[in-house]
Amino acid sequence: MNPKPFHALSVAIPILGFTLSIQAVDYEEEIRPILNEKCFKCHSGPRAKGKLRMDDRENFADRIGGDDPVIVPGNPANSLLTIKAGLPRDDGDAMPPPPARARGAEPMTSVELNLVKQWISLGAKFEAGEMTETTAPTEAAPPTESSESTMANEMRAWTNFEGNTVKAAFIRLDGTNVVIRLENGSEIPYALEKLSNESQALAKKLAAAQ
Ligand code: HEC
Repeated sequence: MNPKPFHALSVAIPILGFTLSIQAVDYEEEIRPILNEKCFKCHSGPRAKGKLRMDDRENFADRIGGDDPVIVPGNPANSLLTIKAGLPRDDGDAMPPPPARARGAEPMTSVELNLVKQWISLGAKFEAGEMTETTAPTEAAPPTESSESTMANEMRAWTNFEGNTVKAAFIRLDGTNVVIRLENGSEIPYALEKLSNESQALAKKLAAAQ
């Protein structure tokens, strides 16, 4: 019938607490177990394959950022680790390598891969506490109804020039695109000029607050 009225925004608010709590990714609790199960077999100990040792924080940290990174903090799309883990199973560069897969080594599930990407998006930190700068406080005062807040990672309603609304978290401005994260965890670039004036202004304000 009628297009969604703009006050449908308020419907998004009650689930905020939930959304925020799943957006903070804890390395020890959530990421290390995935790497342990899927990658440590070949990427731990002094003889780790590809000189990529993931079981030891100091060794692993050497490959996070720096000269020869497998992880580019904040940028999962350019991180070799998530690129390789996400390749089709028959791709020769995929991880685990296809021959090992044929012998039963399981690749990450898409849920696991998304979680690792999210951890990288948030800066690939080992300490949960270090992430408080990039994520919104989870146990702070309940989110206000104000759409003026500049809290990072808050789920917001974005409206395009056709009046369609999508719920997503602001990640960053990237040239003429705004990168947003949908509720399913996928990050997509969206042309800024296709957003409504209000949403364009919001994106710019959030970028300025970063
Ligand atoms: C069965 C063994 C095996 C498993 C399991 C495995 N890898 Fe590897 N990995 C290798 C070998 C061998 C190399 C070196 C050759 C190459 O780069 O293809 C490598 C290299 C890599 C590299 C490149 C390092 C560099 O600097 O060139 C990355 C990134 C990587 N693996 C990620 C992963 C991830 C993520 C997982 C878990 C999902 C994983 N690997 C699981 C065997 C494995």
